[in-house]
Amino acid sequence: MAEQARLIDIYIMGRRCQVPEGLTILTALEYSGYRMVRGCGCRAGFCGACATIFNFLHDPQLRYDLACQKTVEPDMCLVQIPYFPARKATYDLEKTKADAEKIKTLYPDIVKCFGCNTCTKTCPQELEVMWFMTDALRGDIKAVAEKSFDCVMCGLCAARCPQGLVPYNVALLCRRLYGRYLSPNSAHLDQRIAEIESGKFDAEIEELKKADKKTLRQKYTGRDIEPAHDQAWE
Ligand code: FES
Repeated sequence: MAEQARLIDIYIMGRRCQVPEGLTILTALEYSGYRMVRGCGCRAGFCGACATIFNFLHDPQLRYDLACQKTVEPDMCLVQIPYFPARKATYDLEKTKADAEKIKTLYPDIVKCFGCNTCTKTCPQELEVMWFMTDALRGDIKAVAEKSFDCVMCGLCAARCPQGLVPYNVALLCRRLYGRYLSPNSAHLDQRIAEIESGKFDAEIEELKKADKKTLRQKYTGRDIEPAHDQAWE
């Protein structure tokens, strides 16, 4: 007989609920009857939509994490948190230069950072947020882009910054500038884009668009790039 998961108590908006241990916060909410339409997306730790705050019954200190990744623990207390209306500079990337002053022009308030490190402690991706904000202050676009590469844009750093800074949007600006102007070009990519634009693959794409599911599956699993997993098609 299959072993049953142990049930643990958690508290959702003050109501005690029993859920199987091992569930994520997101699945525990759903197990308890809540339908997650907003505040969840990829369910795999990539989109950042499920940022959440929680504490424990006898420990009021707030913790931060992604609801689709963090597993529930006994006496965990969950409530809804609001969307973060963080400031986001608008700019036309094609007309924006990747110079050191650009970050401060678009986000002048980054000079107000007093180094409390709350952003780093809050980040569920364990990024060194305060350090890449220091890089941003120095105008080092490449360093910010590299250090923030795993940012999922959950917004928790902005929600907790006592100075009202928006580290995740500053980092996004740097990754865009780096990708558009500073990162080395890939010869392979340029070549492949030229091939696509010349129509080299048009006939093959049209053929694929007309193919049935079985044929597509055979082509997918038969390709030699990487081993395929049939379940992806179920
Ligand atoms: S739902 Fe996308 S990161 Fe959690």
